[in-house]
Amino acid sequence: MKRTFLIAGNWKMNAGPTEASALSKEIASLWKDKSFSSEALICPPFVSISSVVSGFEGSDFKTGAQNVSNEDNGAFTGEISTEMLKDSGCEYVIVGHSERREYYNEDDELVALKAKKVVDSGLKVIICVGEILSDRKAGRAEKVVKDQLNTALNQLDGDLSDQVVIAYEPVWAIGTGETATPDQAQEMHKFIRSLLSNHFGTEVAEKIRILYGGSMKPDNAEELLSQKDVDGGLIGGASLKADSFSRILAIAESI
Ligand code: 13P
Repeated sequence: MKRTFLIAGNWKMNAGPTEASALSKEIASLWKDKSFSSEALICPPFVSISSVVSGFEGSDFKTGAQNVSNEDNGAFTGEISTEMLKDSGCEYVIVGHSERREYYNEDDELVALKAKKVVDSGLKVIICVGEILSDRKAGRAEKVVKDQLNTALNQLDGDLSDQVVIAYEPVWAIGTGETATPDQAQEMHKFIRSLLSNHFGTEVAEKIRILYGGSMKPDNAEELLSQKDVDGGLIGGASLKADSFSRILAIAESI
C-alpha cells in the first residue's frame, strides 16, 4: 500500500520567534501556488510555535513540537502540556528524541508515557528510536530499537495509524554528516514494521509511517526515500534552510 510521505523538520534549539517567523514564511513562499501530496511539518522550539503557525497560514505546512510533558497541568515548572500545544496550533509532537534521552535522562518508560499522553490528547506522535554506534558495532542495534519501541507500544492500542509515526534515528548519524546507507535504513525500517505488526497487526502496521532521521539532505534524500519502508524524513540541520528543506520535499513529491 502507498503511505503518504511525511517530511518533518526538527529545528532543535534553533530559531527564536523572529527568525522562526522569517524562515517559516520563506518555506511557505517557496510552495506558494504549488500543492504537494506529502505532509510537511516543522517542529520549532516551544516559544516559536505561534510564529511558525502564523508563518504557515494559508499554506499546507503543519507545525509540531519537539517534546511535551507526560502530566496534564499543575505544579510542573518549566513543562508544557499537550493541551497547550493544541491551543498553540500544533498537530504533531516528537517524543523520545535521542538528545532528550541522552542529555535529559528520558528513559523508555517516560517516553512511553509521553507517547500515550499525546495520543490520548488527539495530537499525533512521532516516537523516536535508534541505537548508538557502540550498540551497532556490537550487533545490538535491533535489540535496542526493539526495547525502545516495544515499551512505547505497550501503552498504545487499537488502529492508531493516523496518530502514530515512528522515526528511526541512528544516533551515530545525527548531526555527524554520516548517514545510514539506504540498505541499513531499509533493513531497520523493515524490522520496525515487523514489531509494529506484532503489536497492532499487519493491516495497521502497513499504514504507519516510519521516518528516517540522521543527516538527511537533498543529496541523499532520494535514495533513502526510495526504500520500501522509508516513509519520510525527520530532518535536523537541512531543515534550517528553506531551500534545502524545500528540495527534500520536492524529492519526496517526485518519488
Ligand atoms: P540532522 O539531520 O542534523 O542529522 O538531525 C537529525 C535529527 O536529529 C532530527 O531529529
